[in-house]
Amino acid sequence: MTAPKNGPMTTGAVGVGEAVLLTGATGFLGTQLLKRILEHNRTTRLSLLVRSGGRDSARERVDALLARTLGPAEADRQRGRIDVVQGDISLPGLGLEPGTTASLQSSLDQVIHCAATVRFDLPLEDARRDNTGGTRHMLTFADGVRHLGRFDYVGTAFVAGERDGLVMEDELDVGQTFRNSYEQSKMEAEKLVREFATTHPTAIYRPSMVVGDSRTGATTSFQGASQILIFYRQFFSRGMVVPIPADLQTRLDIVPVDYVVDALFALMHTQKSIGNVFHLASGPANTCTLDELMEMTAKLTGLKRPQCISLETFRQKIEPALRATLKGWALDVLSKGDKYIPYAFTKLLFDKTHTDAGLVGTGITTPHPRTYYEKLLQFQEQTLRVG
Ligand SMILES: NC(=O)c1ccc[n+]([C@@H]2O[C@H](COP(=O)([O-])OP(=O)(O)OC[C@H]3O[C@@H](n4cnc5c(N)ncnc54)[C@H](OP(=O)(O)O)[C@@H]3O)[C@@H](O)[C@H]2O)c1
Repeated sequence: MTAPKNGPMTTGAVGVGEAVLLTGATGFLGTQLLKRILEHNRTTRLSLLVRSGGRDSARERVDALLARTLGPAEADRQRGRIDVVQGDISLPGLGLEPGTTASLQSSLDQVIHCAATVRFDLPLEDARRDNTGGTRHMLTFADGVRHLGRFDYVGTAFVAGERDGLVMEDELDVGQTFRNSYEQSKMEAEKLVREFATTHPTAIYRPSMVVGDSRTGATTSFQGASQILIFYRQFFSRGMVVPIPADLQTRLDIVPVDYVVDALFALMHTQKSIGNVFHLASGPANTCTLDELMEMTAKLTGLKRPQCISLETFRQKIEPALRATLKGWALDVLSKGDKYIPYAFTKLLFDKTHTDAGLVGTGITTPHPRTYYEKLLQFQEQTLRVG
């Protein structure tokens, strides 16, 4: 982290606390964090900050999530140790009644902030409302927690924006530009967290592109790297041979969700995590080129490899022709895919010195995509019936 203003914050609680507030539990990663705590920390009391959704209250959403994730019997057993706090991080005071805030602040010993909007297509002000503003509200709340053992923040490695080359965990704002409002608003959020970390025990985890479980391929998120694959499969399975904008030498840092969760909790159990930033990424040693990913996809699915072209050629020649001729699902695929195209040209790699040092002796190793890529494809095929 950047040099703390008030001296380094060297101590904090180690491991999962006895009374933990978690945000983002209804999301892809947050559900896995919730599940891990329920399974491994039997005495921990959990408060989940969740929005209401449609006609469902936050409690109804959590009940449905527990039943889906744990099965009805286990969900019933676990329900009693979970307080659902209906709130919204984008609102001042998280949208909570003062009494609720006071009661939480006197009982909690840990806050894990995972909630964010991960959409790439929002106007900057909208992304800032959840990501930067939401994090600011969480920090104000956490500042009032009487016995805060630790604050754990889930950021993203893509705060690096449009930089090239190896990005170190200590680096943040080096004057980079951004591909989208998500990257920018998360960079601004991490700045706030780093400032907070100068006076409060804090750890920052930056996953790269999180994909399904390395053992089963399972995921509930079909954003990010999965989207790239889905577009590819949808076009080519329908016999459309469209050149795609990509640099085959791009090394795409994808990381399986089980590794992210294992690493995050293992790091949380070290004093070294306090005041530190960790890339939960595959890192240069375990990152495939797009060439290799396409080769594996073609081999495992039987689909023809696409021709890859420069972004310039795509924008000038191919995209206008596609927009003029495509309809329905195919036009939709093209429009959605647009936000992900820049990642097929990225020259970013994420250094993992802090993460690797923090994981020494834990037995947690970074799986190479070659060892689990087939599982991702299989799960995607079964779930989405693409290909
Ligand atoms: N997935 C990845 O590849 C990836 C990579 C790097 C970093 N990350 C980081 O990991 C974290 C989780 O991402 P994810 O992939 O799990 O995203 P996700 O599936 O979209 O989940 C986002 C979660 O945040 C909650 N949330 C969003 N805005 C909120 C608000 N205003 N108030 C309360 N809750 C709100 C959502 O609640 P609702 O259910 O109500 O929408 C949901 O629970 C984020 O911080 C993200 O930046 C993810």
